[in-house]
Amino acid sequence: MTSSLRESMELLNHLNIDANQSPYHGTSSMSLSPLNTSTEELMDYSEHQRSEMAVLNNLWYKEAIFYEVYVRAFCDIEGTGNGGLSGITNKLDYLHSLGVDCIWLLPIYPSPLKDDGYDVSDYCDIHPDYGNLNDFKILVKAVHERNMKIIADLIPNHCSEKHRWFQSARASRDSPYRDYFVWSDTPLKYKDARIIFLDVEQSNWTYDEMAGQYYWHRFYKEQPDLNFDNPKVQQEMLNILKFWLDLGIDGFRVDAVPYLFEREGTSCENLPETHEFLKVMRSFIDVNYPGRIILAEACQMPDEVRKYFGENGDEFHMGFHFPVMPRIYMSIMRENGDCLREIMEKTPEIPVKCQWVTFLRNHDELTLEMVTKEERKEMWEHYAPIPRMKINLGIRRRLAPLMNNDQRKIELAYSLLFTLPGSPIIYYGDEICMGDNIWLEDRHGVRTPMQWDDSYPNGGFSTSTKLYSPVIHDPEYGYERVNVAAAERDPSSLFNIIRQMIQRRRKHISFGHGSFKWVNSENPRVIAYMRICGIDRMLIVHNLSDKPQSATLQTHESLQAHYRNIGSANTSQELKTPKPPRRHHPSLGTEENDPNRTSDHFPSEGQFQDNSHVFHPHHPHFLSVTTSDDIQSHFLVDILTDRQLMVDFNGFVKVDLDPYQFYWFSMGEITTLGEGPKSRDLRRKSIFKPPSNLPQAVSNHSTTFSLKDMNLNIPEFHPHTVKSKIEE
Ligand code: GLC
Repeated sequence: MTSSLRESMELLNHLNIDANQSPYHGTSSMSLSPLNTSTEELMDYSEHQRSEMAVLNNLWYKEAIFYEVYVRAFCDIEGTGNGGLSGITNKLDYLHSLGVDCIWLLPIYPSPLKDDGYDVSDYCDIHPDYGNLNDFKILVKAVHERNMKIIADLIPNHCSEKHRWFQSARASRDSPYRDYFVWSDTPLKYKDARIIFLDVEQSNWTYDEMAGQYYWHRFYKEQPDLNFDNPKVQQEMLNILKFWLDLGIDGFRVDAVPYLFEREGTSCENLPETHEFLKVMRSFIDVNYPGRIILAEACQMPDEVRKYFGENGDEFHMGFHFPVMPRIYMSIMRENGDCLREIMEKTPEIPVKCQWVTFLRNHDELTLEMVTKEERKEMWEHYAPIPRMKINLGIRRRLAPLMNNDQRKIELAYSLLFTLPGSPIIYYGDEICMGDNIWLEDRHGVRTPMQWDDSYPNGGFSTSTKLYSPVIHDPEYGYERVNVAAAERDPSSLFNIIRQMIQRRRKHISFGHGSFKWVNSENPRVIAYMRICGIDRMLIVHNLSDKPQSATLQTHESLQAHYRNIGSANTSQELKTPKPPRRHHPSLGTEENDPNRTSDHFPSEGQFQDNSHVFHPHHPHFLSVTTSDDIQSHFLVDILTDRQLMVDFNGFVKVDLDPYQFYWFSMGEITTLGEGPKSRDLRRKSIFKPPSNLPQAVSNHSTTFSLKDMNLNIPEFHPHTVKSKIEE
């Protein structure tokens, strides 16, 4: 351990933190303005309950749907022309009804806004445009009352040139803050580091007249990098974490993590020193704020991001999977899933308590940093036909325009997002097919006001006559046509489709916790994969083409591969898995009598088991059944439409798909469980028994855990493709 890190560790001991603090202690101990609602008046939030496994292990983030909010754009209830924290509080029921579990706030701190808040001038306050700390406390409380979570951006790598640290540092070499930044007499140091904001910056060094030296910055020159070799800077960061965690925040999306340290002769990215500091940050959270999370923004290939989870899962809980994002677009553009398959094959296993985070769009350009030069050209030609659409190494457009506003393609993209490994993030406005304005500067074209209704002149966003940005009002994407109120009314709107996809996704533990196995399809336009967790097995099939397609899929190979691998997986992790109840198999008797079933897959004794011991590979029922009277084991049930298909005894299934159609099949014997043939709700009804010996800390999460029957009323699901067929 370096001396600076040792000092940081010592700091932890001096921060005077109450280690017994419960995760919500921070909020409950504050005096909060009462919300204008009582618990009874709140909606039924039970659908936001999480699996017992997630609750028991503080793994809520593995099952969560995230929603990225640009605070300025979301909702202005004060009439200032800027969205604010109170606007978000006001719209929480909307987010809840969509199915959002966790809100991610883009930077909320005071800032001169050169980089829209990523240039922080005070880490422990709220930007006056957005409200104040009390508004923040009210928001956090309201979020938790809805059994949701909230995280915010933390920007450790750099601050604003207007931050008092930098102002003092540049004024004198004797300033106590001089060493908070990286200075040099020459701009030639660290020349192997790439320039990120290529369109604007020519160098990572800028000369400061007052300081008489160059200072280092990886982004805009108005964002001087902090010097993490200085233990005081590390201490400042931990203090900042503590400040927000004490206010009840559930975690942070940590910005630009690869760049914290610089070393000559390297790219100054992903350095060992950076990982060492991040581990300190993590242990600080684990010790003092268990259940809170950190999410790494590291735009790198998966093997590099893997390192940010730490060897044993002791660094970040979550990490963005940047490379999969452009490949979702690429596979739809090419009508061929090979690029997706390749990147998934290059994606290493991650520790069992960690999770990838996936997204289709965010507040930045659709970055093409993680594809080859040729692929970038191909993507630009297809998705950025007008030069103005390009920015840096990416594209400044939103999801709907990128997909030509074809709802079938947008649903397909969301289906991929919701079924590939990882917790998905929805970017505000994309759920209602909002458009963009490429003529605005920088990345502002994808940060325009949220469109709530068709009211003149601001689409319900604000009553002000002077908005921070023009609202979109073109014939195709204007607020008159594209808005939340209209989307909520229309049962086949993207909003309602996404909502139902989320509800169904929530019932299958394999999406958040399961393994991923590619399924061979002889038709390249049809891609298929499995998500498997215990007996929850999902077979996901997508038609990437705008023509009807058929494919024959071989399911058994993938299942076999899964059960072969299970022996080596998760051996070092301590994950408590609730014991499923004993099940009765119609043709083979109880599972205890089944010679093919090893008891270690489903533990026989105790309420919970530690699955850290080694599994023995075996053939599950699904593979070993050979008699025709066990026909039910071979059913596939699409949980989106209830359509059923049969798998033959060799594991082959033939699927027919409409253009851009997709299926989420629940597989095999799960359909024999519970009440009736459908897979829905089986997870909670049949697989998990309510744990009786919940530790006290978990019982305290009364809002996140209830033993009541989960027989939810699910509205009919009519994806666009199905609906258009009905209309024909
Ligand atoms: C991250 C943010 C981006 C910002 C940059 C510098 O990449 O997503 O918006 O400009 O960091 O802070």
